[in-house]
Amino acid sequence: MLKTDILIIGSGIAGLTTAVKLAKRFPERSITILTKANTDETNTKYAQGGIAVVNDLENDSFQKHISDTLVAGDGLCNQKIVEIVVKEGPERVNEIISWGTQFDTDKEGAFMRGKEGGHSEFRILHHKDITGKEIERALVEETKKYSNIKIYNHWFVVDIITQHHLGYLVTKSTPDITCYGVYALNLRTNKIEKILSKVTLVASGGAGQAYRTTTNPRIATGDGIAMIYRAKGRIENMEFIQFHPTALYEQGVSPSFLITEAVRGDGGILRNKDGEAFMAGYDHRADLAPRDVVARAIDSEMKRTGTEHVYLDCRHMDHDKFKEHFPNIYSRCAQTGIDIFEQMIPVAPAAHYCCGGIKTDEYGKSSIMNLYACGECSSTGLHGANRLASNSLLEAIVFAHRCAESIGNEIGNLKFMDSVPDWNASGTSEPKEMILITQSLKELQSVMSDYVGIVRNDIRLRRAMTRIDLLHEETEDLYKTAVLSPQLGELRNLITIGYLVIKGAQFRKESRGLHFNTDYPEKSSILQQVVL
Ligand code: FAD
Ligand code: SIN
Repeated sequence: MLKTDILIIGSGIAGLTTAVKLAKRFPERSITILTKANTDETNTKYAQGGIAVVNDLENDSFQKHISDTLVAGDGLCNQKIVEIVVKEGPERVNEIISWGTQFDTDKEGAFMRGKEGGHSEFRILHHKDITGKEIERALVEETKKYSNIKIYNHWFVVDIITQHHLGYLVTKSTPDITCYGVYALNLRTNKIEKILSKVTLVASGGAGQAYRTTTNPRIATGDGIAMIYRAKGRIENMEFIQFHPTALYEQGVSPSFLITEAVRGDGGILRNKDGEAFMAGYDHRADLAPRDVVARAIDSEMKRTGTEHVYLDCRHMDHDKFKEHFPNIYSRCAQTGIDIFEQMIPVAPAAHYCCGGIKTDEYGKSSIMNLYACGECSSTGLHGANRLASNSLLEAIVFAHRCAESIGNEIGNLKFMDSVPDWNASGTSEPKEMILITQSLKELQSVMSDYVGIVRNDIRLRRAMTRIDLLHEETEDLYKTAVLSPQLGELRNLITIGYLVIKGAQFRKESRGLHFNTDYPEKSSILQQVVL
């Protein structure tokens, strides 16, 4: 059994930033990060376009960034949170720069700024087209400076521990559900260990793997959101799954390689199979409309023309500049046999970002005591019905700071709960057939992609729920009898994510932001968050 003052689930931008801040402030406190894969295998590592921040007040303003975020969020952002994130952003970005993150600068040393859909100004700091890799590198290096941070990789967190594990009945209306730590599967020993903590931060990232085609790496299985839902914590706005408009189209390949929106910011044009630049017909902001609008327009063009992709045309763009800003995209396309200065790039939308998640307050506190959430798994109120491009890295560092502040103020009063039982694996045996898990995962991804994608309707949602119910039942049966593996745990979590997305979508009798239901094509006059 391990005991740690502060337990962090996840080693992406949210988890690592919070860890560094707490380690600096409390050198005597133990901070443990659990991560289910290699330390840097995170959504963070794959971020391309960059981090949106206002740090050029001559040409940009907080008000413009706030307004862009609110417009993209389509009426559902929490204005106070938007203001906090935008205004505190510059200081937090300077912090990660001081920890070694390098953003591209011009010859005079001024930051180069990119633009993406929904932004009215060039404000996105980037490191070529591998911004996330650079941030993750710098953060991993920074954590090494603190001997009180211990990172345990290849540990799969199964569930958080609450009063439920002490034998008490816990329901949604239990007022003081409290987190005492987690049960986690050590993937090297295959044993489930109990880890006690005074305070726990969930920073477990997104859930793109619920869909057949996604830009998210394999780790993005919504584990944190699912385990907090199981623990009866509050989850909100799960119907708002963001599809990135331009993932490289390669039949049957997932995760898909992203073609950053910054390419359109630099002049890339979307065209249909007949070569028509179709975006202006859908929105006056054309190729740089917010992501929900562009993804829906592409979906509609694909259906109208009977194709599985559209094209991103970069042939007219400055070759040297392109190679300098987007070297990774240039070489990945070349490997696939596409010379982007001669040919258009086939692209299609792919599940990309989970706008909802674990509901938090303005300090990242969840509805469960001693439990915080930060990063993509959280729902802070920033994104509303549709996240503005490149706002998520920003949200993660602003909220990492706020979580660290709040944890720092409270940790002195918190104690370990010592009477937690060990994990009980009695009555389980090795699963006989992996196909039971792999096939169910494929079914789930098909149901979500075919019925709960960019365009939805009531019949599709009903069908999806019926099928998810069956998958849930079968998987729970397996869970009760089989020795737990990460594959089974992830399947269980993804089924919960599917359920939450469908449930949220069924509650929302309107079309808003990323949720478009052809049975209710208009926006309702009542603004509501769906909390499950
Ligand atoms: P992650 O970085 O995903 O980290 C999650 C961590 O949790 C991982 O370490 C994982 O192993 C761990 N974990 C999960 N479940 C468990 C478990 N059960 N047990 C133990 N550990 C667990 N956003 C932007 O703002 N700008 C961009 O340019 C941008 N580009 C993107 C490009 C791509 C291809 C993708 C996929 C996303 C992009 N995003 C971008 C979104 C952004 O990268 C993510 O939202 C953000 O990095 C999430 O950070 P995080 O720390 O919350 O989670
Ligand atoms: C991109 O680079 O297009 C992704 C940016 C984001 O998801 O915020």
